[in-house]
Parts: sequence; C-alpha cells; structure tokens
Amino acid sequence: MSDDPFSQIGMATPIFGFSHCRDVVAAVSKAGGVGVYGAGLHSDEQIAIDLKWIEEQVGNLPYGIDLLMPSKYVGSESGGLSGTQAKAAIPSEVTDFLDDMMVRYQVPDAVGGEPEDEFTALGGQRYSAAQAQGILDLAFASKAKLLVSALGTPPAEVVARAHARGMIVAALAGAVKHALRHAAAGVDIVIAQSYEAGGHTGEIGGMVLTPLIVDAIAPVPVLAAGGIADGRQMAAALALGAKGVWCGSVWLATAESDLLPVVKRRLVESAAEDTKRTRAMTGKPSRLLRTAWVDEWERSDTPDPLPNPLHAVAIGPYVTRIEKAAASPSATYDRGPGALAPTAAGQVIGLVTEESSCRQVMMTMMTGCVDAVDAVQELLEAQ
Ligand SMILES: Cc1cc2nc3c(=O)[nH]c(=O)nc-3n(C[C@H](O)[C@H](O)[C@H](O)COP(=O)(O)O)c2cc1C
Repeated sequence: MSDDPFSQIGMATPIFGFSHCRDVVAAVSKAGGVGVYGAGLHSDEQIAIDLKWIEEQVGNLPYGIDLLMPSKYVGSESGGLSGTQAKAAIPSEVTDFLDDMMVRYQVPDAVGGEPEDEFTALGGQRYSAAQAQGILDLAFASKAKLLVSALGTPPAEVVARAHARGMIVAALAGAVKHALRHAAAGVDIVIAQSYEAGGHTGEIGGMVLTPLIVDAIAPVPVLAAGGIADGRQMAAALALGAKGVWCGSVWLATAESDLLPVVKRRLVESAAEDTKRTRAMTGKPSRLLRTAWVDEWERSDTPDPLPNPLHAVAIGPYVTRIEKAAASPSATYDRGPGALAPTAAGQVIGLVTEESSCRQVMMTMMTGCVDAVDAVQELLEAQ
C-alpha cells in the first residue's frame, strides 16, 4: 500500500472521471482530474489503440485504467468458459424473446446475418484467465498511474505487479465487507460505490456507505462514487470523509461523450426516477437508464436475465444491432430502436439538464464545492 496514493498519482483536483470513451478520459485529465478509461467493454485491439491515443493527448498528466477483472481469475488456468460454450448455454426462450423484440421495435438484421466483430458478439466479456491476461498486459505496458478493479478484489499477483511498476491500485466496493477485502489485499484506494450510482451497484445509499467504509478501512483512503454531479455533492462527499469523488454519469451528456445522440437527448430530459437497478444488462444488478430495453426484461411475462456472463453473451449481438440502428440521425427515443437503446446511468442524471463539456463540469464542480463549504460555514457561524 502506498503512503499517499494521491500525491503518487499527482492530479491537481480530486475528481476522478470514469468513462468507456477515450475523449472523456483525456478531457478529464487535461482539466486537472484523473480520467479513468473503462476497458471492460473494448477488445484488446481497441484498448491498445485508445491507450496510445490517450497518452498522446494527456502527455505526462495522470490517467487510469479500469478493468472488469473476473473474480474467478485466480486459479482459472483451466481456461474458464469459452465463447462457444457460453453461446451453447443460452436457452432458446431467451433468443426467441430477443428475436421477437427486434421485430417489435423494427431493429434491422445484422449486415451479413452475423456481427462482424467476435468480441462484440460475445458481449464484451472475458471468459478465461488468458483473455484477462491480455488486458492486464496492456495496462502494465501503459503509462497509466492507476489500475482499478471494477468487480471484485484484485488478485494478489495483480496488486504486486502494479505496485512493482509504481501504479496505484483501486477497487470499487458497494458494501463494507468488499472494502475490507480490498484493503486486506493491499489496494491503495477504495471507491465506495453507492446505490444511486450508474453501473453495478449495491443496495446502500452514499450518505451511509461512504462514512461506513471510511471508518472500516482507515487509514486507506476512500473516494465517494454515486450521485455526484455538482459541487454541493462533492462537498458532502468530502464531509463524509472521502478524499475525493469518482463520477460516471455526469460525463455521459458532455460534448466529448460518444453516447448515441438519441440516448444523450433522452438522458438530459430524464428525471432522477428514470433509472432502474436491474439485471437486464449484465445479469448482475446494475443501474440503467429506464429505456424500453429495461422495461422489456422487467416484464413478468418475459424471461429472467441469465446469470453473468451468459446474459452479456446472449444480448451482445442484439445490442450491437440496436445501437447501429439507433445511431441513425432520424432515430427518436419514443419508438423503434432509439426507444430500446440501453445505457448505464445513475440517479444523478436528474441534475444533468443540458449538454456541457468535461472541463465545464469540473470547473462548476470545484467552484460549487468551495461555495458549498463557505455556505455551511456561514450557516454555522450564524448560530
Ligand atoms: C455508462 C456507465 C458505465 C459504467 N461502467 C463501469 C465499468 O465498466 N467499470 C466500473 O468500474 N464502473 C463502471 N461504471 C460505474 C462508474 O465507474 C461510477 O462508479 C459510477 O458511475 C458513479 O456513480 P454516478 O453514475 O452517480 O456518477 C459505469 C457507470 C456508467 C454510468
């Protein structure tokens, strides 16, 4: 464990910006925070291209890489589930349901009948130690200052390899028991991911989760994640004992974000209650924008989502088809493929009411944080 992981990372402001989109990552780092590239949904080839591009953009400024490290990574030398085995395990009632959904929402067939990209067709999941190894090798060959484990405690050899390279290791935790496991494994920073957050979440809100984790793993520093889009929320997170904030949803509606325009429009017009914690995307509970995709899976007369990673394998080619069709400039979010197009998003989208830029978000957050602290001080002095 590093004595002061934040000075080792060397950022100007304690704002960490998670995104699968390399433009957002570079913009957050260039604005003084730490952009963190979500590698989980990309092929190894794409990750290599994106990391090179990010490094050209940010120069010596810090950035990070976030991996969906399979928890069965340790000892999975046998190779785990192959893509072919996983595909064979998908029940026909699920593919029938998906085929019917494509017809009902007028989603065109994939060109040539099969998705061109094997990785996308497999739902962006890595099934074996060997596949996860490729992504780790890319991370270790990069100039990233931070390696983040999205799901589960990183294996001891991964932590050791990162530390030997001078990289800081962080991991997301939705409950105190996860945070304790991370800290025991030598993780340098724990990210307390609360119920409100977009993506995989637990069931505890940030007002409770952040101080619980801060107390449980002190002196290991904590970042607060979930429900943070402005300076008031940042000030609250710091007051709860977090050393900084980790945001995901607030970048989705920025000019840099590669989210489909039709989904961006829907997002800025959505309210805080328009998200749902559901298994509809990965088979594990994660918070999504409540599009028709979520409603279809949540209906009582449709199949239950499959366990992870089978769900991602089942839906991968269909989501690719939906996204291709929803990318059309004529797509709208009230019907057809644009109504289905899924994205993870947190409750905080209720505060995101217009398109902005990453730099603007960060400046507003920093000044808003200072203003909020001043306001609290004035309030207390007036008592
Ligand atoms: C579109 C989207 C995709 C996400 N994917 C991942 C991921 O692959 N890995 C990860 O560690 N967290 C992921 N998250 C969670 C974020 O890292 C972050 O913890 C969360 O967005 C914070 O809460 P907020 O959405 O309220 O800002 C995702 C979040 C969003 C919105």
